[in-house]
Amino acid sequence: MATLGHGVDILRNARIRRILASKYCDRFVKRILHPQHELPQFQQMAMQTSKIPSFSEVCNSIDQSSSTVSLLDRKCRLLSSTFAAKEALFKSLDAEDQQTFTFKDWYRVSNSGVAASRVLLNPKYSKINGERFIWSISHDGEYTIGSVIRTELFSQ
Ligand SMILES: CC(C)(COP(=O)(O)OP(=O)(O)OC[C@H]1O[C@@H](n2cnc3c(N)ncnc32)[C@H](O)[C@@H]1OP(=O)(O)O)[C@@H](O)C(=O)NCCC(=O)NCCS
Repeated sequence: MATLGHGVDILRNARIRRILASKYCDRFVKRILHPQHELPQFQQMAMQTSKIPSFSEVCNSIDQSSSTVSLLDRKCRLLSSTFAAKEALFKSLDAEDQQTFTFKDWYRVSNSGVAASRVLLNPKYSKINGERFIWSISHDGEYTIGSVIRTELFSQ
């Protein structure tokens, strides 16, 4: 299987956190996340964050503020990972396909334990049946890195 392309992207998480706190959050999220495969997960998190805790939840929580922070961190992590992966994907594409690239047409799938199953899919991409986009993500403190390797699906 020949390698057709490789893309990498490094992202400062503060950029995403700033967008999450801004009036552009909704527009950005809908531009980046796939409407069926990714957006619902994010919206579910958003609902959890905005939910007012019940009296018993507050009483049972050892540290309510830290659980709120971790929800925000999870939202930021989901968006940072998705954004970095799709920017890396963009760089792995040929120029003509970059011209029609739309973030929200793509979505990440993974089957834990199977490295080659961590792929990005887009049924609208004309060569999707002959190519595979394998993604990898890494986080360290304030930074997220996404990498995508584009390969042929079948050997010639
Ligand atoms: C063009 C783009 C790849 C540049 O990325 P960036 O985040 O501004 O900058 P980065 O530091 O991550 O990457 C820059 C490097 O990417 C590489 N690069 C630039 N354009 C590229 C392209 N079209 N394809 C692949 N690699 C590209 C170059 O090596 C560049 O470094 P260099 O200038 O030192 O050679 C970026 O604009 C992008 O990912 N766009 C996504 C698609 C998009 O936004 N479309 C708009 C319509 S929604």
